Amino acid sequence: YRARSITSSKMDQQTLNVKSPNIANPSRISNIVVGNLDELAKKKAAIRAAGMSSLQVIADFDMTLTKYMVEGRRGQSTHALLSQGSTDYDRKRQELFDIYYPMEISPNIPVEEKTKLMETWWGKSHGLLVEGGLNIENIRQSVEKGTVGFREGIADLFEILDGEGVPLLIFSAGLADIIEEILRQKLHRTFPNIRVVSNRMNFDKDGNLTGFIGKTIHVLNKNEHALEMAAPLHDEEGHSVGSNGNGSSFIKGRKNVILLGDHLGDLGMSDGVAYDNRISVGFLNENVENWLDTYRRAFDIVVLNDGTLDCVVELIQELR
Ligand code: TMP
Ligand code: MG
Repeated sequence: YRARSITSSKMDQQTLNVKSPNIANPSRISNIVVGNLDELAKKKAAIRAAGMSSLQVIADFDMTLTKYMVEGRRGQSTHALLSQGSTDYDRKRQELFDIYYPMEISPNIPVEEKTKLMETWWGKSHGLLVEGGLNIENIRQSVEKGTVGFREGIADLFEILDGEGVPLLIFSAGLADIIEEILRQKLHRTFPNIRVVSNRMNFDKDGNLTGFIGKTIHVLNKNEHALEMAAPLHDEEGHSVGSNGNGSSFIKGRKNVILLGDHLGDLGMSDGVAYDNRISVGFLNENVENWLDTYRRAFDIVVLNDGTLDCVVELIQELR
């Protein structure tokens, strides 16, 4: 999808060809759409006045922190990359994907109906994972082999948040255990300021999946989820720890939010926070012609073309 066709469209959004700090690398030029520049400027000023200690970041995982296309191939979600050690069950889950994913991204299914469909999908998919058997070792190997990559700029984003003491809550309808394995395998260091709220697996003493902890999170019920599912990513020695953390205390008193998501349902991630100001960044990856108008109204900033996280890093630099 080319920037030119957006600029020449009848819509009145302001399309900026934002050059990232890394101008030497032209692949790091993203297309950014801001629906209302005045509104965004006001929110920035309010957050800047309140200071970094008032800020928290809530981010979706799949296709928000990760890339839509990875080396020419469609990036896999945490569910999709998982091989559970049985081709039969992997195929059954793929068949569900082929049925339900087009429904997830369809602009034509009313939200109540779509919510029920998504509940059914997650229920069936998690049922198959338990029924077909899954071992912790399958997770490690699946992540090694999976088509998954972070968006460019992720290291800069994690570093600046850590440096400024800003907590990052990764809030995903995917699988917590996979997200944590991806972070372990792909980052050079651990970040104490990161928590993962997502569907978390329960394993027996032999590392076999026995079920899931708590209520299922799917793409359209993120708003309903309290933060008590949040767990510290790593203990002081860098080991992964269970779901005994508390997300609410983690972000307590932080009244300003930067929200990152690729799905309209991701906007509900901040519903548990009585925020003063929220700047939302939407990553619009597909069906752009159909969704752009909706996205630029719903999100303060829209990133097109599988763009980098540089605009989020720049935003935080501007806020401090
Ligand atoms: P997200 O909230 O981190 O973006 O993750 C949700 C994605 O997971 C959503 O786009 C659908 C996808 N998904 C699969 O690929 N396979 C599955 O079996 C299920 C239940 C979801
Ligand atoms: Mg997503």
